[in-house]
Amino acid sequence: MSVIRIQGLQRLHGEISIQGSKNAALPVMAAALLHSGVVVIKNVPGIQDVFCMMEILEGLGCRCCRDGHTLTIDTRGLCCWQVPEDEGRRMRSSVMLLGPLLGRLHRVNTCYPGGCSIGRRPIDLHLSALEQMGAKICGDEERVEAFAEKLCGTDIRLCFPSVGATENILMAAVAAEGITRIYGAAREPEIQVLCRFLETLGARIDGIGSGFLQVHGGRPLHDGEFTVPGDRIVAGTYLGAVMAAGGEVCLLDAPTDHMAETLCAAQQAGCMIEQKENRLFAKMNGRPLAVNLATGPYPEFSTDLQSVMLAVSCVAQGESWIQENVFEERFATAGELTRLGADIRIEDGTAFVRGKYPLRGNCVQAFDLRGGAALVVAALAAEGESQVHDCFYICRGYEDICRDLTAAGARLSFEGNERKYEENTA
Ligand code: EPZ
Repeated sequence: MSVIRIQGLQRLHGEISIQGSKNAALPVMAAALLHSGVVVIKNVPGIQDVFCMMEILEGLGCRCCRDGHTLTIDTRGLCCWQVPEDEGRRMRSSVMLLGPLLGRLHRVNTCYPGGCSIGRRPIDLHLSALEQMGAKICGDEERVEAFAEKLCGTDIRLCFPSVGATENILMAAVAAEGITRIYGAAREPEIQVLCRFLETLGARIDGIGSGFLQVHGGRPLHDGEFTVPGDRIVAGTYLGAVMAAGGEVCLLDAPTDHMAETLCAAQQAGCMIEQKENRLFAKMNGRPLAVNLATGPYPEFSTDLQSVMLAVSCVAQGESWIQENVFEERFATAGELTRLGADIRIEDGTAFVRGKYPLRGNCVQAFDLRGGAALVVAALAAEGESQVHDCFYICRGYEDICRDLTAAGARLSFEGNERKYEENTA
């Protein structure tokens, strides 16, 4: 059991340090497998998904050593191509191991990630690209097995800029012979981070940051050290908290260069934003204004912040709509927000919200990582006590949401056993 208890209606005031990015750290950890040697990764967040990836890498024969936020991975002992079942199922990102394991060991066997609470999440684009590079794919509904004596660079056209598929292709391409060109690649900042990490190890990639990537494969790789940037989704979540609760907060090390759409939405909602070096100041007087949003691949508004903005809309002045265009089932949180008194109607992938303030405290349940964080944000604007149950989902991606929001003056606490897991794996 894990619960976050929140006493709402406290204005926020304080400073929050933004943790390293989950969605950047996980592919970087997977990519470390491409090289036989030692890589040092700094600013790795202490979150459940990272601990799970560490367990997977150890199960494959690597050694992982975490000292604070610095993670050292020694991949010289990599010998196993079978991703451990339990951890593979626990974390969907285990699919990222397809490319690097095929590249290094020429073989991989992992459980099929299947659907999850935010949608079906197929991996057809990953598999088809790896096939085009020479891999033979087999398996059943439960597991994917792939072999490739030799991966060959080729031209790959993605019909949708899938983040995970782009990452898998990039990693396979670094190990492949010849040049791989990816047309229609995802442009999310986390892709750029992965490219920079691969370059640190000796890879050569053209077009970084664009929708066309060209990888010169087969170059020798070497040891390297790399720093993961701040998490734009965590920073966006805390901006959402200021908008919902009101107050004045300084976010340290928020990656503002990659937050244009989020900052724009916050400003439209009436949040005053100012930036000085690595400090982002956000000030919110009164209730947020209603803002309409549509999610999409980067640089459009991130689907990962849709639930948080939905929570903000619930307390906004007036009516707003939010359209979800990436994950079809990402409105599961709407029902729980309604239990906090919100007025939301979902129709054809769009949430129509009539704002009201304050919401009322209640017991609600997290169904996924970002939806769970959004419930915490909404509870900050609810009268009385709220409880967010099953908040282990939140621990998958937020190092310590209670610590961070408490630093900004919120009143909330965590009850549960996820921390023990951290002690065991540290
Ligand atoms: C990454 O997931 C992120 N996860 C997600 O973060 C994020 O929401 C998503 O990108 C979009 O930005 C990590 O980086 C670990 P996609 P990913 O492949 O790679 C469809 C979070 O909360 N699709 O870009 O799985 C798919 O169903 C999360 O931190 C196919 O149809 O996202 C979805 O509709 C959750 N076939 C769309 O593309 C495929 O083979 C986007 O998926 C692959 C994807």
